Amino acid sequence: MSSVQVLKKNEVAAFLETLPSDHLLFIVDEKLKDLKNVFLDLENVNKKKSVFYCKSGEETKNFHELEKAIEFFLSQGIHRKCILVSFGGGATSDFSGLVASLLLRGISWVTIPTTFLAMIDAAIGGKVAINSKFGKNLIGHFYLPLNNILIPDFLTTLPQEELFNGMGELVKYAFLDIAIYQAILSGEPLHLIMKRCIDYKNKIVKKDLREEGDRKLLNLGHTFGHAFEIHLKIPHGQAVLKGLEFILKMDNKIELLESFYKLCEHLSLPLNKYNFPKFEVIKELVMRDKKVQNVDEIDWINIIEIGKPEIKRESIEAFLQRAEIVYGEYVKLHQGS
Ligand SMILES: NC(=O)c1ccc[n+]([C@@H]2O[C@H](COP(=O)([O-])OP(=O)(O)OC[C@H]3O[C@@H](n4cnc5c(N)ncnc54)[C@H](O)[C@@H]3O)[C@@H](O)[C@H]2O)c1
Repeated sequence: MSSVQVLKKNEVAAFLETLPSDHLLFIVDEKLKDLKNVFLDLENVNKKKSVFYCKSGEETKNFHELEKAIEFFLSQGIHRKCILVSFGGGATSDFSGLVASLLLRGISWVTIPTTFLAMIDAAIGGKVAINSKFGKNLIGHFYLPLNNILIPDFLTTLPQEELFNGMGELVKYAFLDIAIYQAILSGEPLHLIMKRCIDYKNKIVKKDLREEGDRKLLNLGHTFGHAFEIHLKIPHGQAVLKGLEFILKMDNKIELLESFYKLCEHLSLPLNKYNFPKFEVIKELVMRDKKVQNVDEIDWINIIEIGKPEIKRESIEAFLQRAEIVYGEYVKLHQGS
């Protein structure tokens, strides 16, 4: 199981010194090179270091970049005790974990996430992947990091939009765990709330690494969220937020919707309007999703009440029919240009 440590930026070098390897491999989002407040000064780390700067965001999650990173590290005279450190947002950790899992049949790795979304979600739990032309995250597997290092200092350089993006996942956690919902509304410091999200995810991952049972709960809001993300080309967290709102509307959960809007308002989280497509487009994308169990059935996450999620298996036909009934009304209310 991965451990979580909350550190200050100036404590990172000392932490890296403690890692049990004489050669550290770094994958760093290239955009962070120019951010003075984020850039890691590795001068004080007295170990051999090999640094690969990956492309920022989704542009790194493909075979071409994977090959480049792997060949680069192999050219550096690596061995099985090398430890790979991922430094960047969720795209970087998805990519880095896959590289770590493939190098010499798998070396240890550590995540130092730099976006809010990656800190509370993407860098936790060992789902590592690149994208295919057939869809996002279709090439990968489960490969847990040794440690997750949480450095809230990095949030200071994060653009507002990226912070909102991560908040989408935060709202998801708040519906999964009432303690998180209450902590947000009671104004608990953000880093403590973040730690709660990480602990919640780690607890679930410990029971079910390969998403055969409880880990599916973390897909709350993702069934339609992924479809919105792909078609509307919007960030993952915002898509999850829309996906959660839609699933609550589907079953006309009025009280839960009120709680949802209350939380968004409390977090000053804007509910953006988008240019939603015809239902057929969304239907097609939902049917292609990984959550489809077989040709006829889909697993989706229902919220009975805040803190009480359940996995529901339903025929895809019935599920999509129910969705289609509310989709028109939803789009009318949330359509932008
Ligand atoms: N593995 C999982 O369990 C999981 C879960 C959720 C999402 N994901 C994946 O995570 C990715 C999204 O992650 P993300 O939202 O972190 O996006 P990202 O990694 O693309 O980062 C977003 C942007 O923020 C920039 N950035 C990163 N840190 C910064 C900082 N401190 N200051 C300023 N800018 C900074 C990046 O360069 C990038 O341009 C997607 O690829 C998604 O599929 C994975």
